[in-house]
Amino acid sequence: TSTQATSVSIAGDISSQLHAGYHHPLSRTWQAERQLTKAMLIYPLFITDNADEVTPIPSLPNQNRIGLNKIVPMLTPLVEHGLRSVILFGVPLAPGVKDPLGIAADEPQGPVIQAIQVIRRAFPQIFIVADVCLCEYTSHGHCGILNDDGSMNNAMSVERISDVALAYAKAGAHCVAPSDMNDGRIRAIKLKLIEEGISHRVNLMSYAAKFSGCLYGPFRDAAGSCPSFGDRKCYQLPPGGRGLARRAIRRDIDEGADIIMVKPASSYLDIISDAKEIAKDMPVAAYQVSGEYAMIHAGAKAGVFDLKTMAFESTEGILRAGAGIVVSYFTPDFLQWLDS
Ligand code: PBG
Ligand code: ZN
Repeated sequence: TSTQATSVSIAGDISSQLHAGYHHPLSRTWQAERQLTKAMLIYPLFITDNADEVTPIPSLPNQNRIGLNKIVPMLTPLVEHGLRSVILFGVPLAPGVKDPLGIAADEPQGPVIQAIQVIRRAFPQIFIVADVCLCEYTSHGHCGILNDDGSMNNAMSVERISDVALAYAKAGAHCVAPSDMNDGRIRAIKLKLIEEGISHRVNLMSYAAKFSGCLYGPFRDAAGSCPSFGDRKCYQLPPGGRGLARRAIRRDIDEGADIIMVKPASSYLDIISDAKEIAKDMPVAAYQVSGEYAMIHAGAKAGVFDLKTMAFESTEGILRAGAGIVVSYFTPDFLQWLDS
């Protein structure tokens, strides 16, 4: 009869009824496992050795290279809006400061060690991450020490990088984050922190799955860290290397990492998801890198989408994939947007 037909068709339809779950703006937010909060954001800063400098970085909209004297004025309004963490990159500009060993990286008067001390004094509550690498300080622009044939000398690089990490930790960094991708550096850094008796207070964040590719261009402009010859393909991971990334993540967990990072973010969401599965008992970070940020700005400028909407959408994807920490150049924008 017609009554039976109606009840069958209603029963058949019930499992297809989804709209009620996300009709209201609030019920829509409940559909996400993780909401972006201010505490998840780490803001990258480029610190030069020229104390009064504020120089806009052309390929990185709204971002500046700043000198030591400009850090506090720049951070004050951000801290008022809820900034919790920064990651520091040193940009030595003085002529002749770069050499094959990157000796300027842990120079006590250098920009990173000075900036750590300035920020700790002015904003004791801010969590300071120090990126650890040599490429900003080496004359050849590679992320370590090279053999005569131009290839990476892994043993010497690890020895040097772990010394630099220790120097940043002793200067007061809450977290050291090696981005060089040499084999064994997490273990070497952890051992030096233990030997120094400071391993309990220094978080070790590994750029565990860092891929080579074309998304770091604006950063290399900003940091002046473009390799003078060759590329980074023999130490950063090949973009198709999902299995390799999983091995690198497992390796760095075993070597003592406290946080696992994936970088870049949006083209590597499967890797973030793998990282959350492999490192399920640890925080996973994702770095939305300079090229991703510049792309979103370019797309918005070309009228493809609205900047804020796209910044949120890309970040929601990163969180959905499994990250709980996001390193982002949008941090100052998010601090405002999250208030409104
Ligand atoms: C240095 C380093 C790079 C980035 C973070 N640390 C550049 C690179 O590896 O070439 C990239 C960050 C970005 O593009 O925003 N090893
Ligand atoms: Zn590097």
